[in-house]
Amino acid sequence: MTYSEPTDLAIVACPGGEKFADETIKHLNHIYSRRFRQKSDVLAKRYEVDRVNLVKDVNFYNDLQTSDICIRGDITKYRAPDFKVKTRFTWFMNGEVKTEILDCVRGKDVFIFQDVENHQTLELNEGKNPISLSVNDHIMSLLVTIDAVRHAGARKISLVLPVYPYSRQHKKKGREGLTASLLGHLYESLGVEQIITLDIHSREIENAFMKARIENLHASYQIIRELAKIVDLASEKDDFVVVSPDTGAIDRNKFYATGLQRPLAMLYKERDYSVITQDAKTTNISSVKLLGDVKGKVAFLADDMLGTGGTLLKAMEFLKEQGATKVIAAISLPFFTGNAIELFDEAYRKGNFYRIIGTNAVYHEELLTKEWYIKTNVSGLFAQVISRVHHDQSLSDLLDNRNIIEKLVKQDKSAEIE
Ligand code: R5P
Repeated sequence: MTYSEPTDLAIVACPGGEKFADETIKHLNHIYSRRFRQKSDVLAKRYEVDRVNLVKDVNFYNDLQTSDICIRGDITKYRAPDFKVKTRFTWFMNGEVKTEILDCVRGKDVFIFQDVENHQTLELNEGKNPISLSVNDHIMSLLVTIDAVRHAGARKISLVLPVYPYSRQHKKKGREGLTASLLGHLYESLGVEQIITLDIHSREIENAFMKARIENLHASYQIIRELAKIVDLASEKDDFVVVSPDTGAIDRNKFYATGLQRPLAMLYKERDYSVITQDAKTTNISSVKLLGDVKGKVAFLADDMLGTGGTLLKAMEFLKEQGATKVIAAISLPFFTGNAIELFDEAYRKGNFYRIIGTNAVYHEELLTKEWYIKTNVSGLFAQVISRVHHDQSLSDLLDNRNIIEKLVKQDKSAEIE
C-alpha cells in the first residue's frame, strides 16, 4: 500500500448511493492531493532535494508497486487515484436486480455506498428504465452488491450507509421483530467488517453486531458551520435557545446546547397511539407542552431524521405561537417523505420557521431549490473517515468533535475542516 496512491482503496456505488459516492470521491481526491503536496514539500526540505525530482521518485516507487505494465499519468505530477469501480446494475421487470463488478477488486479494501432514502428517478438499464426505488428495493440492491463484491475477491468490505435502514425498529414492544438488528446480521453474514453511518437513530443497534464495527459519525460540526452563517453565535446579545423537539431528541439537543453554550428547552408531546401517522397533518400527536422559555428568542431544534415532517412542523408552529422570533431546525437525515416539501412550503409562507439545515447524506433535488433550505455537506467527513480507516489511523478527533465546535463558535479559523 502506498500513501500517495492508495490503489487498493476501491469504491462501489449502488444506484441510490451514486451521488453521495461521487461527492465523497471529490473530497478523497482533494485529501490525497493535499497530503501529497504537503508531504513532498516537507520531504524536499528535509532531504534537500529538488521537489520535481522528489515527485518523480515517489511516482517511480508507486509504479514499482503496481503489477500494471501500462502506467498512466504524468510522472512529474501528482496522479489522482481512480477510486471508483465500474459496475453494471440490471433491473428486471419483475423487480429483481443484478450487480456486476466490471473492474478487478481482488485483494482490495472496498467501500460500498448506498443511500436507501434516495427516491429520485434513477436511469437504470442504461437509461431505458427510469425508476424510483423504495427503501426495500435499495436494501436488496445493496445485499446483491455486497455478495457480488465478496465473490469478486475483495479483501475487506465496508458499507457506507449514511442512513441505516430500519433504525427505528431497534427495540421491540410485544410481538415485533428487531429489524435493525436483523439487517445487521445479514450484512455480517455476507462478510461486511465495518459500517460507516451518520447520526444513527439508536446506539443500541451497535449491540446487534458480533464482529462488524459501526462508526457513527455526527453532522453537528457541519450543521453548526451553516448555523454560524445565519446567526451570530459569538455574540453574547443574540437571544438563542436550543429546543429539543421531543423527549427522544434530548441528548442530541443537549449536545448542541452545551457546544453553543446556550440554554436548553424541551417540547413534551402527548401521543394518541390509537392513531397511525399518515402524513404530517394526520399525526398521532394530540397535545404539546413547552418546558423552558422561547419568548423573544431564536429557537433552534435538531433531529436525527425528518420523515413526514409531522414532528417538526408541529413543534415549529407551537414555538412561534409561544413567541419565538425565529425558528431554525437542523436535520441530519432529511428524507422529506411524501408531500413533506409541500407542507414545509406552506409552513414557511405562514412564517412558522426561518430555515431548515439538512445534510447531503440523503439525495433530494427538489429541496435544493427551496429558499428555506440550507444544505450542509458531510461528504468531506466521510472521505476523511474512509481514508483514515484505510490507513489504520485514529478516528477519535472526527468522532468527538467538541473541541472543533468550540473553536468554531469562538470564530477561531483553525476550526475549519473538510
Ligand atoms: C423519532 O423518533 C425520530 O427521531 C424523528 O423525530 C421522526 O422519525 C420524524 O418523523 P416524522 O418527520 O414523520 O415526524
